[in-house]
Amino acid sequence: MINGTLYGIGVGPGDPELITLKAVRILRQVDVVFAAASTGNSHSLAMKIASPHLKEGAPVVRLGFPMTRDKNTLTTTWQENARKVIDTLKEGKDAAMITLGDPMTYSTFGYVMRIIREKAPEIPIKIIPGITSYHAGAAAAGRVLAEAEESFTVISGTLGAKKLKEIIAHTDTVVILKVYKNYKEIIDTLNHLDLAAGSVLISRCGLDGEEVIRDLKEGLDIAPSYLSLLLIRKSGYE
Ligand SMILES: C[S@@+](CC[C@H](N)C(=O)[O-])C[C@H]1O[C@@H](n2cnc3c(N)ncnc32)[C@H](O)[C@@H]1O
Repeated sequence: MINGTLYGIGVGPGDPELITLKAVRILRQVDVVFAAASTGNSHSLAMKIASPHLKEGAPVVRLGFPMTRDKNTLTTTWQENARKVIDTLKEGKDAAMITLGDPMTYSTFGYVMRIIREKAPEIPIKIIPGITSYHAGAAAAGRVLAEAEESFTVISGTLGAKKLKEIIAHTDTVVILKVYKNYKEIIDTLNHLDLAAGSVLISRCGLDGEEVIRDLKEGLDIAPSYLSLLLIRKSGYE
């Protein structure tokens, strides 16, 4: 039996038109689709974007994992999830694992890919990049990420503002994903650094209820959606 191929597919950040032609072509061909149920939100959105493009009858399998930071529990769950994917591929079926945005950027695909490479190195893995949330966010806000000799840095907001002060000293633009939980601490730090007025928060980019908030000095009235990111430019936005 020839092993199937695993495709890690980025389906873009939400707008159903921001999926690549290559992603659509491969979604039409694969026998099984896996989607990581990391948050109800991103899982169902990735599925919604991919669904119109799937081969008729192709099953969609949710790969669940517990909402914990406990490394042992997470490792065990990912080993089990990767095993399900490996079993499918060993039956000779081609499979896709779909990710919101890009599969190589803060995606659960990375965990599965590493385990499969270790446990079943003979299985071919191909990755189809996706448009990231922050590329779509910069476009929605009409804000440049970098030009000329500038740099930009993408960080996660799950550690609050801890790294922000250090990182902002060494780069021109910072993008913060996963800002929703620690947004208060992050905005306080931006105010402290005198950067809140020029920072932009983009929520639900490309989706119903999209919001672009351009001045964060006063903070936010309510917690932003899980699908929110921040663009911070040291030189400020014009
Ligand atoms: C686990 S990360 C996934 C990143 C994704 N792989 C990418 O390439 O953009 C989830 C975070 O991406 C950001 N995100 C994803 N889709 C978004 C959207 N449509 N609008 C705003 N932010 C989004 C949010 O910061 C969210 O908390």
